[in-house]
Amino acid sequence: MTNIRSIIRGCGAFLPERAVTNHELARRVDTSHEWIVQRTGIEQRHIAAEHETTSILGIKAAEAALANAGLTAKDIDLVVCATSTPDYTFPSTATLIQTGLGMTHGAAFDLQAVCTGFVYGVATADNFLRSGSHRRALVIGAETFSRILDWNDRTTCVLFGDGAGAIVLEAGSGAGTSEDRGVLSTQLRSDGRYRDKLYVDGGPGSTRTTGVLKMEGREVFRFAVGMVADVVEAAFAATGTTVEDLDWFVPHQANKRIITASAEKLGIPLEKVVITVDRHGNTSAASIPLALATAQADGRIKQGDLVMIEAIGGGFTWGSALLRW
Ligand code: UT7
Repeated sequence: MTNIRSIIRGCGAFLPERAVTNHELARRVDTSHEWIVQRTGIEQRHIAAEHETTSILGIKAAEAALANAGLTAKDIDLVVCATSTPDYTFPSTATLIQTGLGMTHGAAFDLQAVCTGFVYGVATADNFLRSGSHRRALVIGAETFSRILDWNDRTTCVLFGDGAGAIVLEAGSGAGTSEDRGVLSTQLRSDGRYRDKLYVDGGPGSTRTTGVLKMEGREVFRFAVGMVADVVEAAFAATGTTVEDLDWFVPHQANKRIITASAEKLGIPLEKVVITVDRHGNTSAASIPLALATAQADGRIKQGDLVMIEAIGGGFTWGSALLRW
């Protein structure tokens, strides 16, 4: 029996030109390069220029993914953009990206699951492709978190950065085994009881303002490692694979300590872990596709590799996807 699989055709990313070092931030708030590196692993992050909105970053990442796939926007019939920092309350950033790519066909919509947004996006597009309703999807994670930070709050402003990444998924056929190329399993979770641990204190329906990010970092940290292990183990169980089969672990890039503790708990050797948080900071929904594009471009992730992505974010939301590249 053949199964429809969402096969990864291409991957690309875009970062704003301006890189801001910890030393630069230490001139604005009471912090230090040493503290930030020791507690988070972050050394720099990219910050969008005034004219660079989330859709502009998303368009550039989508163009890079299409070029990598050897396709054009004409070939795409679904655009899913995961973001918590849309250009506007509406229209969606996905429709702005669709227009920016020169598309007047297909469907485009935004999806909001904060840092887990890209994993939710992959799961959503995978279900559209496997249902037969669409054939090729762009899944984009794009963020300008610099616009929702309180630049006087040292507990949050040193952690985040801007950027975008994208993949092209194409409906293909497989044998229904874990040897197939494509999306093998997606595991999504959420629990809104934790809304106060990580949130933005504004919005159109409550304050009519954008608001700024608030986080009880220590509490989020405490939950993160357990949540990661839950969804990663569920993806292995659903596909009959084990940690030994894994080629690359590409986690959400929030904090190097969370990444290494999660890898250790799961028994994944550090040589198989893709880490970009040192250069990118936490770019929320963009962090995983940025890391995927980095590791594909430098030759680490190759066709046929088994790749686990996972994230946890505000809500809480969390999830994983197991991919055969
Ligand atoms: O992407 C969504 C998911 N988000 C995350 O995964 C973030 C999870 N949390 C974390 O990554 C970490 O909790 C943080 C990096 C946010 C904080 O690290 P921590 O080791 O948990 O530090 P802490 O919050 O316990 O703070 C330790 C101390 C505090 O001072 P006292 O109370 O011990 O005197 C903070 O006030 O460090 C202080 N501090 C800072 N010092 C210098 C907090 N921020 C800074 C700073 N520079 N930027």
